[in-house]
Amino acid sequence: MQAVLNYLEQNKDRFISELCEFLSIPSISAQPEHDADMVRCAEWLKKHCEKIGMKTQVHKTARHPIFTATTPRAKNSKKPHYVVYGHFDVQPVDPLDLWKSPPFEPRIEGRTIYGRGTSDDKGQLFFHIKAVEAYLKTGTELPCDLTFLFEGEEEVGSNSLESFLVSHRDELRCRAFVVSDTGMPGLKYPALTYALRGLIAFEVKLQGPSQDLHSGLFGGTVDNPAMALCQMLGKLRDKDGHVTIPGFYDDVAPVTAFERKQFARLPMKESQYKKITGVPKLFGERGFSVHEQRGCRPTAEINGLTSGYQGEGNKTIVPAWASAKLTFRLVPNQKPEIIRKHVISYLKKICPPTVRMTIKTGHGGEPYLISPSDPLVKAALSTLEETFGHAPLAVRDGGSIPIVTQFKRVTHADTLLLGLALPGDNAHSPNEKFSLDCFELGARMSALLWQKLGKL
Ligand code: BES
Ligand code: MN
Ligand code: MN
Repeated sequence: MQAVLNYLEQNKDRFISELCEFLSIPSISAQPEHDADMVRCAEWLKKHCEKIGMKTQVHKTARHPIFTATTPRAKNSKKPHYVVYGHFDVQPVDPLDLWKSPPFEPRIEGRTIYGRGTSDDKGQLFFHIKAVEAYLKTGTELPCDLTFLFEGEEEVGSNSLESFLVSHRDELRCRAFVVSDTGMPGLKYPALTYALRGLIAFEVKLQGPSQDLHSGLFGGTVDNPAMALCQMLGKLRDKDGHVTIPGFYDDVAPVTAFERKQFARLPMKESQYKKITGVPKLFGERGFSVHEQRGCRPTAEINGLTSGYQGEGNKTIVPAWASAKLTFRLVPNQKPEIIRKHVISYLKKICPPTVRMTIKTGHGGEPYLISPSDPLVKAALSTLEETFGHAPLAVRDGGSIPIVTQFKRVTHADTLLLGLALPGDNAHSPNEKFSLDCFELGARMSALLWQKLGKL
């Protein structure tokens, strides 16, 4: 095992230059002009994993390719099988002018690497590859059989992977999935995430007049769809940050004493949180701490709002339409399907008769929860302790990785969420970054994890 750790130490500079190559492929899944880059990225992974001695495959799908790789294994291997999941697609980069350096030209400053995908999620899946490389290149026996499952549609809803799971159920049967696509509170606060929020997305459009109208000639006689939409959206929550949709909180699991205790150990102060976000004052559901608000409580968010004239100066019109993109973050035991019904019937109730409303439901995902006292979780926590040299935490996080509930449904396996992104890493924002310490510790963590999980 020492040979594996030495290998990681001796080759870390090369790993970082390889990571830079991986990061420079603009694999933006949402934008069709990058479809070829998605293929290029999957092919890059294939070449890379082949070189380290894995058996690889790029699978075509209806949209972006899925990449799989397996470690060499005996025909009737008795070793436990684990699947490492990650995503090589990234979020769009706009607003581009806020980036200090081009998003796909990775830049290293001190112990930080900047670029789109550094922490979400290319930098994180890459440390798992490097841990496997260390085993294979040093001829050290891996205590587990491993499969990498890296997709290119995580940021757009994982549609292709959902059907892939079903058609490849047998190859993917495993003791558990391991995913590094979450965060931890700090280098001295390594954490295992045992719950994630779910989500449900909508697009609401209000159509008023059949075309934009002169607001002097018609304003005051027909409804303004932008105004009507704002008034409706304003009714989604009250001044205490409580969502006002009837039934919305029916199935929300209460915050437990264990959770309060774990959260209380977190270093992040509200002032620090304020600094990271740049807001003049924090806002959240009254009666809950910041950690509870993001980890344990559901929300309503407007993600995009469009109507009327957006160019320079003024244009005096009553716009023909207005639309909003909405998402609701959900927590255990809310069900996206039930929330969808509550949201739609509420919107119908508050929509005035002066506009025509259409509602499109977007992607959804269930919240995830694994018991923090599960033996898998315990093995992961002890790996974190050994890697970081600090007592690890078990936390609930606010983001969503909807596919993990599908893993459970299709293969009955749980997921260990061992992500190392730090709170200010700017996922989905300009100047996304990742700590090189986290990257190097991540490879070590991955290597040590297979030792612990091999013994379960
Ligand atoms: N890696 C994130 C999810 C995440 C981040 C979970 C930090 C916990 C902590 C993932 O790439 C992501 O952005 N997920 C989307 C899901 C959506 C597109 C279906 C999200 O959370 O908005
Ligand atoms: Mn991610
Ligand atoms: Mn993401």
